[in-house]
Amino acid sequence: MMLQVAHLSRRHDGRLVVDDLSFAVKGGEWLGLIGPNGAGKSTLFDLLAGTLRAQGGRILLQGRDVTGLGLVARVRAGIARAFQAPRPFASLTVSDHLALVGGTALLRPLGLYDLRHRLGADLGLADARRLELAKALALRPKVLLLDEVLGGLSGSERQAMITLIAGLRRPDLAVIWVEHAISDLCAVCDRLMLLDHGRKRVEGLPGLVAADPLVQEIYLG
Ligand SMILES: Nc1ncnc2c1ncn2[C@@H]1O[C@H](COP(=O)(O)OP(=O)(O)OP(=O)(O)O)[C@@H](O)[C@H]1O
Ligand SMILES: [Mg+2]
Repeated sequence: MMLQVAHLSRRHDGRLVVDDLSFAVKGGEWLGLIGPNGAGKSTLFDLLAGTLRAQGGRILLQGRDVTGLGLVARVRAGIARAFQAPRPFASLTVSDHLALVGGTALLRPLGLYDLRHRLGADLGLADARRLELAKALALRPKVLLLDEVLGGLSGSERQAMITLIAGLRRPDLAVIWVEHAISDLCAVCDRLMLLDHGRKRVEGLPGLVAADPLVQEIYLG
C-alpha cells in the first residue's frame, strides 16, 4: 500500500474536524475526495502534508510511519501538494521557480515553456496553477495531493487542466484529488470518498458514489 491512514484525528477550537478517519491508497491509484465546505478536506491535506500535526492516529507511507515527521521530511519522504491558491513569487520568472526545485525539465510537459521568462506577478490563474503543479511534481512525489486545482478556471482552461492532470497517471504515483465538481473526478479517479464533518461517509467506485443518496443530498440539495 502506498499510503495508509488509520484513525486520524484533529481538532480545531475543540471541535473534531478530522474524526477517526481511516483509508488507504495504492500506488498508481487515484482517489477523489469530495465533501461540503468545512468537511475537513483541506485539514486532511494539512495532516498528510505535515503542515498540521495529527492529534490521533497514524499516517504510513509505504509502510513507514511518517506521522511524527514535519513538512520538509514529509516532502523528502514523497508527499507533495498543489494548493488551490498558488502564490508565485512576484519577481521570479516561471523558470526561476522551477529551477529552485530542480524542475526545469517540467517546463515543456506542463505547457510552461513559452511562459518561462514571465514573472510570477504577471501570471494568470490557469498559468499559476500549472506552475504550482509543476513545482509539486518537481519534488518527485509518491503521493500527490491536489486541492481544488480546477476552482476558478474558465471552461476551456478547466478542460485543458483536466487533460494535463489525467496525463500524470503513473504506476508509482498515488493521487488524492479534492474537487467540488464530482463529474470531473468521476472521469479521472478510480475511487471516490465523501467526507462530512471530518468522517468518511461514502467510499467506492465513482459512479456508485455519485449515485449514492447521501452524496445526491449533499450536492444537489
Ligand atoms: N486553522 C483553523 N482554525 C480553526 N478552525 C479551522 C482552521 N482550519 C480549518 N478550520 C475549520 O475546520 C473545518 C474544516 O475546514 P477545512 O478547510 O478542512 O474544510 P474543507 O473541506 O477543505 O472545506 P472547503 O470545501 O470550503 O475547502 C471548518 O469548520 C473550518 O472552519
Ligand atoms: Mg478546502
